[in-house]
Amino acid sequence: MKKKVLSILLAGAMALSLTAALPVMAEEETEATTEAAAVDIDLSDKKVGVCIYQFSDNFMTLFREELVSYMVELGFSEDNITLADGANDQATQSQQIDNFIADGVDVLIINPVNSSSAQTITDKVVEAGIPLVYINREPEADEEARWEENGWDVTYVGCDARQSGTYQGEIVVDLGLDAVDFNGNGAIDYVMIEGDPENVDAEYRTEYSIAALTDAGLEVNCLDDQVGNWDQVTAQQLVANSLSQYGSDVEVVFCNNDAMALGALQAIEAAGRVVNEDIYLLGVDALSEALEDVIAGTMTGTVFNDHFSQSHSAADAAVNYLAGVGNDYYIGCDYVKVTTENAQEILDMVS
Ligand code: BGC
Repeated sequence: MKKKVLSILLAGAMALSLTAALPVMAEEETEATTEAAAVDIDLSDKKVGVCIYQFSDNFMTLFREELVSYMVELGFSEDNITLADGANDQATQSQQIDNFIADGVDVLIINPVNSSSAQTITDKVVEAGIPLVYINREPEADEEARWEENGWDVTYVGCDARQSGTYQGEIVVDLGLDAVDFNGNGAIDYVMIEGDPENVDAEYRTEYSIAALTDAGLEVNCLDDQVGNWDQVTAQQLVANSLSQYGSDVEVVFCNNDAMALGALQAIEAAGRVVNEDIYLLGVDALSEALEDVIAGTMTGTVFNDHFSQSHSAADAAVNYLAGVGNDYYIGCDYVKVTTENAQEILDMVS
């Protein structure tokens, strides 16, 4: 734990980014809060229900593994932490939530399948008197406002996806128009591969990556915009189609996450294209495989989606509720831009 925090600090410093250092401060602060709360109560008999929208999601796998190991570090018993796989089906997940309520869990941590179901979920969990920590898929603003208006023990832990989109776009801006505009038409010709369209992370990354380009005065041309649902195989097929349709005009492929960027890379290589030579490729998450690609030059860049900070904050928030301390209604975290300059440091930290 200490080692990880130190590494985050070093990586942040090496990226020479002020925002990169912020999660460290946040993490240290929340740690201090948690330690204070943890000494006050015995966590070993507290029952925790954790709902994950889909176990097979690469990023959520990192998230849930770190969540469990950190909760055990805090003093929870692993036997009392029950994880449920929503299998990307809201009806399945709603049943799992009902079961957790019937089992009388002390706290729930929920990564909703559909953020739009948050109101129904909140109502039944609050009714049962169980504190609730939403993670990763942010409910709508008016839903979040209800928690505060009613003083409910409900919060959301996550990063602001606008920042990740902006960072993706800035990586391309930093390359400069001349390096990117292979076909010489004066514009950045791109393909966008989106995550689940219901997910605000997907919406914001799609919008803000391109906004970073236009804000920098670059002209953009969207050749194709497709929904890959965060999935590698789907993205591979979509990018293969785009490349066969638009050929060498495709200058940049933006993917809302790294799983899809890895699929895009397979399609790019199959089409005989070479990343950073005749096409650029961007993802989000900083999965180890993607970081290795950035280091090798087979991916242009990614954005670290800090699953350490998010899972720790979620666990800390759960402890605060159990200790009767309460939480803010929104608990944020910063992304970190990743290019060849800092990919190795980030890889050392996450692996
Ligand atoms: C991650 C994706 C993941 C999604 C799940 C996003 O924040 O970047 O990789 O599939 O969360 O909701």
